[in-house]
Amino acid sequence: MAAQLRAANRRGRALAAFAVAAAGGLLAAATFGSGPAGAAGTTLRDLAEAKGSYFGTAVTQNDLNNSALTAVAGTQFDMVTPGNEMKWDTTESSANNFNFGPGDKIVSFAKSHSMRVRGHTLVWHSQLPSWVSSLPTAQVQAAMENHVTTQATHYKGQVYSWDVVNEPFNEDGSLRTSVFYNAMGSGYIADALRTARAADPNAKLYLNDYNIEGVNAKSDAMYQLVSSLKSQGVPIDGVGLEAHFIVGQVPSTMKANIQRFTALGLDVAITELDDRMQVPASAANLAQQATDYATVISNCLAVSGCVGVSQWGVGDADSWIPGAFSGYGAATMYDDNYQPKASYNSAVTALGGTAGSPSPSSSPSSSPSSSSSPSTPPSGAACKVSTQVSSWNTGLTENITVTNTGGSAVNGWSVKFTLPGGQTVSSAWNATVSPASGQVTATNLTYNAAIPAGGSTSFGFNANHTGNTAAATGFSLNGVACSIG
Ligand code: G3I
Repeated sequence: MAAQLRAANRRGRALAAFAVAAAGGLLAAATFGSGPAGAAGTTLRDLAEAKGSYFGTAVTQNDLNNSALTAVAGTQFDMVTPGNEMKWDTTESSANNFNFGPGDKIVSFAKSHSMRVRGHTLVWHSQLPSWVSSLPTAQVQAAMENHVTTQATHYKGQVYSWDVVNEPFNEDGSLRTSVFYNAMGSGYIADALRTARAADPNAKLYLNDYNIEGVNAKSDAMYQLVSSLKSQGVPIDGVGLEAHFIVGQVPSTMKANIQRFTALGLDVAITELDDRMQVPASAANLAQQATDYATVISNCLAVSGCVGVSQWGVGDADSWIPGAFSGYGAATMYDDNYQPKASYNSAVTALGGTAGSPSPSSSPSSSPSSSSSPSTPPSGAACKVSTQVSSWNTGLTENITVTNTGGSAVNGWSVKFTLPGGQTVSSAWNATVSPASGQVTATNLTYNAAIPAGGSTSFGFNANHTGNTAAATGFSLNGVACSIG
C-alpha cells in the first residue's frame, strides 16, 4: 500500500481526507475516533486502515434516504464513490449550466462519516448529455476542458481522486470512439488529465476501466497508454480496475497485472468490486464469492502501490447487477437486509481480522435492521427442507422443517418458497407467512429466530386449494437455496 496513505492513516483518518495536502498527496493530520458504532479493529475500514489502505463503496443520492444502508456505509467503509452524482448528465445537463447539488450531498455524507471521496467521473462516453455528443467537432475540446475545470475546481480539496477518463478502451485494446476521441483523437486523454491537474493539483488523477483486472489485450493497451503518458510527463497518478466479476472468474493474472502498473510508479485501485451469480444464490456460489473477495483483497494488499478496494454499492438490494444482467445478483458483501454475507467474513479475514467477530452492521446495539432482519448464514451456509402435507376436499395443512446444515448458527430467518397454483394460506403457526399465494416468505417469530448449526426449526400453515395439493417448492433460507430431503 502507498506509503503516503499509511502515513496518513497512522495519523488518523477523517477530515484528513478532505484536506489533501501538497503534491505528494499526503493527507493533513486530524484525529478521529472509529466509525459511529465501530469498536476499533472490527470494521472493514478499521482493518484496511491498519494496513495503510481503505475500503470504499458506491453510494447514490437515493441511497442516502435508506437508513439501513447508510448505517452500514458510514461504519464499514471509509471511501465513497458517488454512483451517478458526479457524472456529466447530472453535473452539466445543459451547456455551462452546472448542478453540483447531488454530488455535494454525497460529499457531505462522506464528511459526516469521516470518509474520503473518489470523484467519478469527469470524461466518459456514457451518461453524457446529448448536447455534448451532438456538438460540432470544433467545439468539443473547449466544452470538455470547461467541464473538467469547473467540476474539478468545485470539488477541489474535497476529493481524494478523480476518475478523469472513464472506460476509454474497447475490449480489443483499441480506443473507444466517442465524441471526445472523434474530435481530438487519443490526445483527449492527456488534455483531460492536464486540465484536471490544473484545476485541482492535489487530487490523484486516474484512468478507470473494466475487464483490465488481469493481463489481456485491454489491460495491455491501458499499460501502454499510461506508460506513454508518464514518459511524456502527462499528470497521471493511478489506474482503476473496476473488478465487476462473475463468481469463480477472478483472473489468475490479477496480482501480476497490478504489479506491472505499480512498477510504473502508479497507484492502482480496485474501484467497483462486485461478484455476481445466478439467483437465487446457491451455497456453493456464495462460498465461491467469499473466496473471490478474499483473492481480490489479498491481491491488492500484496502489492505496494495498490491503495485500496471499493465495492460498487453497499448491499445486494442496491447493486446495479440485477438491472443489467437478467437472472444475476447477490453480487455484494451484504444481503438484501444489509446483513453480512460469507464474502464479508472473508473480506475481514483477508484484511487481517477475525471472521465472525461482531461488526457494527450485525451487532444488535448498532444495526437498525439486525434485531428484526434475518442474517445470511456465513461461509458454508446450507439448508435442507422437509415437507409434510395432509389434505381434504378444499383444504390442506403443510408442515415444513428447515435444517441449518451450514457451519454456523442462523440468527433470524426468512424462508422463501412457491405455493402450487390455487393454494391460498389461511393461517400459519411458528412463522409469519406472506403473501397468501404464489411466491411467499415465512419469517421467524421472536421466540424462534435462532437455528443453531445442525439444528432445525418447524413451521406450518393451513391453506385452501382448488385441486392441487402438492407441497410447496423452491425453498431458500436467507437467500440460500435449500435441498429437499
Ligand atoms: O435518472 C433516471 C430516471 O429519471 C429514470 O426514470 C430511470 C429509468 O430507467 O433511469 C434513471 O437513470 C438511471 C441512472 O443509473 C440513475 O439511476 C439509468 O437508467 C441507469 O442506466 C443508470 O445506471 C448507472 C450505470 O452506471 C450507467 O452506465 C448505474 O446506476 C451505475 O451504478 C453504473 O455505474 C457504472 C460506473 O459509473 C462505471 N463502471 C460501470 C458501473 C456499472 O455499470
